[in-house]
Amino acid sequence: MEKSLVLIKPDAVERNLIGKIIGRIEDSGMKLLALRMLLMGRKLAEKHYAVHADKPFFKGLVSYITSGPIVACVFGGENAVEVIRGVMGATDPAKAAPGTIRKAFAENIERNSVHGSDAPETAKEEIALFFSDKEIFG
Ligand code: RTP
Ligand code: MG
Repeated sequence: MEKSLVLIKPDAVERNLIGKIIGRIEDSGMKLLALRMLLMGRKLAEKHYAVHADKPFFKGLVSYITSGPIVACVFGGENAVEVIRGVMGATDPAKAAPGTIRKAFAENIERNSVHGSDAPETAKEEIALFFSDKEIFG
């Protein structure tokens, strides 16, 4: 079964959207396999977003993602990565399709409520940053 890492970002945790976001992903047919609330430290944030280290938005992104608690989840299912990115919508909520999480909840291109892995290989690496094998039920 394909897996994807989902992070419910600080802006969404702050606005009591945890249940709604998990519900939308469950409603897409994906199964919740692991769940944890945590405050991301700077080191973990820099590892998780290492691919963006050279981008102009990197510093702001790390400071935002570490600014408050997040909820880390592993979801599994057929085509989990693609299905979940579809449910999330485009990075910029102004460009996100109607009915997507980011269209409904994101505040702007940075405070966009949710993260989802962008490929099955990166999902494996990202999941390992947050969960041990025995914490994943599937
Ligand atoms: P994510 O990795 O969080 O699932 O989002 P994504 O694939 O849709 O977008 P990505 O290009 O990977 O960007 C990672 C996160 O960085 C923030 N961002 N800010 N200020 C900006 O122009 C900007 N662009 C991206 C967002 O929080 C984005 O989700
Ligand atoms: Mg990404």
